[in-house]
Amino acid sequence: MCGIVGYVGHKEAAPILLKGLHQLEYRGYDSAGVALTGEGLSSISVFKAKGKVANLEEKVNAALGKSGQMLTTGIGHTRWATHGEPSEVNAHPHLSMSGDLALVHNGIIENYQLLKEQLSGHGYEFKSETDTEVLVQLIDYFYQKNGKNLAKAVSQALNKVIGAYAIVVMERNDPGHLVAARKASPLVIGIGEENSEFFIGSDASPLVEYTHKVVYLEDEQIADIRMGEDVEIMNLDETSADLNIKDVDFDISALSKGGYPHFMLKEIFEQPHCIKNSMRGRIIQHENGLYEIKLSALTNFKAKLIRARHVIIVACGTSWHAGLIGKQLIEEMCRISVDVEYASEFRYRKPVIDKDDVVIAISQSGETADTLAAIQLAKEQGALIFGIVNSVGSSIARESDTGIYIHVGPEIGVASTKAFTGQVTVLTMLSLAIANAIGSMGEEEFQRTCEELVRIPQKMEKVLGQNETIERMSNKFTYAKNFLYLGRGYNYPVALEGALKLKEISYIHAEGYPAAEMKHGPIALVDEEMPIVCIATHHHLYHKIISNMQEVKSRKGRILAIVTEGDEEVKAIAEDVIEVPATQNCLVPLLSVLPMQMLAYHVAVKKGLNVDMPRNLAKSVTVE
Ligand code: F6R
Repeated sequence: MCGIVGYVGHKEAAPILLKGLHQLEYRGYDSAGVALTGEGLSSISVFKAKGKVANLEEKVNAALGKSGQMLTTGIGHTRWATHGEPSEVNAHPHLSMSGDLALVHNGIIENYQLLKEQLSGHGYEFKSETDTEVLVQLIDYFYQKNGKNLAKAVSQALNKVIGAYAIVVMERNDPGHLVAARKASPLVIGIGEENSEFFIGSDASPLVEYTHKVVYLEDEQIADIRMGEDVEIMNLDETSADLNIKDVDFDISALSKGGYPHFMLKEIFEQPHCIKNSMRGRIIQHENGLYEIKLSALTNFKAKLIRARHVIIVACGTSWHAGLIGKQLIEEMCRISVDVEYASEFRYRKPVIDKDDVVIAISQSGETADTLAAIQLAKEQGALIFGIVNSVGSSIARESDTGIYIHVGPEIGVASTKAFTGQVTVLTMLSLAIANAIGSMGEEEFQRTCEELVRIPQKMEKVLGQNETIERMSNKFTYAKNFLYLGRGYNYPVALEGALKLKEISYIHAEGYPAAEMKHGPIALVDEEMPIVCIATHHHLYHKIISNMQEVKSRKGRILAIVTEGDEEVKAIAEDVIEVPATQNCLVPLLSVLPMQMLAYHVAVKKGLNVDMPRNLAKSVTVE
């Protein structure tokens, strides 16, 4: 959701904070702000702007250009509104009434109304509608009472709070000092050479340019950060905790568009390379030509994984769609029953979880609040938690007992693309490895599938080669108010994913359906205005989907079909056709999803929309 940055050191803080906010803007972009101070100053300067970080940058540069002051401590925030509309007054940082403290916050304080009433009773007044302002006043209340000990005040306040938070607080009287804390919302601290400077971020992306030494703050921990000293970590009850410094490995080039007009297009085109990375060192071809799948997760937890008779996949959004493909892969290859659950529903039901079950959490960001809560619930009941995550060191990765990183690099475009194909690649390798270990798949089929999986990146390139054709096609669909996406078997989740991609970036209503379900209702929507994307690649249900297409055609629907290379039958029915190379049925989603992504992208661009930052969305959903 929101993005947080912080800096304390010997350099000008503003450029570092603003650059960091640009990098985190994908997490929220309805308003942004920074608070700055420096040695010898008697106040904290706060700058805020509605809309993009660029608006804030203009303001800050105009103001600081004239001042000539050296402001070496600061915090910044890019917001995705939860409480209170996007506006300057609701934007962070929030100042306490005394002016002593400034705070940025990601998360939700659930009992903020009650706290606000109590603080009003102590004379506190509020300018904004936000829960965050309540939090800074609460910290201020304890700060004034305890002789201005900030870390202690933060712990006293957080002990009164119900909810989720990642916060950074700075104080007017002590530039060179920041206090950070987290619960259920990520926060990373970067440590500069010999503690001469510190960087804070909601994720590692704004820090890696400066340092690779980081501390991932744990839940309910507070970090006391002072220039020139070791970071002190304490728990909410003020007992001290270990300082756990890790090395972060991050490809900085992933943070730029690399010549593409949008991150989304860059990430679509990166997919062949990304899934090669997902497979690297995991699918190994021996000198005799035979393949082996080596997954460290399977080595360490083999007994539990191969004993499992029931797998539960929890995820949200695109990751949930990957989970639906995972279900088909695991059931088909391993003959183990799989349920796929929306993490948001799972966590609030009383799901039946056995201690021998394996719960697979799929998440690009590794920070999705619902998915995290779902695995915490499953963990309490003794299940093995297996994370399929992109973001290294993220909360879900750390909470999992074991797992596989998808290794597709940072995904910046809000609409998920390369994470989906990375997740499906990892689920395929996992299914193959388990099937091989338990003998549910013949050796010949195992070898054939591995060989074909390794060829997928090359085949993806062929699909991506049709980008210009898809761009031209997309011209005629910008008028549409509704779209239907149909698929069967492995292509049904791809239809759901295609519909989600179109909805989120082009704001066209779209629905994905298993093609045969059409006649149970949705067919009533079909008329000459309705574009229908049919994913009709060759598989055992091919002729059935052709019948479904005929049903649509006889009602004058406009069919855009995804077919296997060389298909002539569908060409006679569909208005437009996009070809994907032939592959094994279980691997088709890795190819058939690419035209879905490209179509959504081009329709949105043609409509003049900001595909990388669609309205109302945020990249990482750290609130429920
Ligand atoms: C859609 C999209 C979202 C995410 C969902 C889960 O393009 O990006 O639907 O898939 O919010 O996010 P992660 O995978 O980070 O848990």
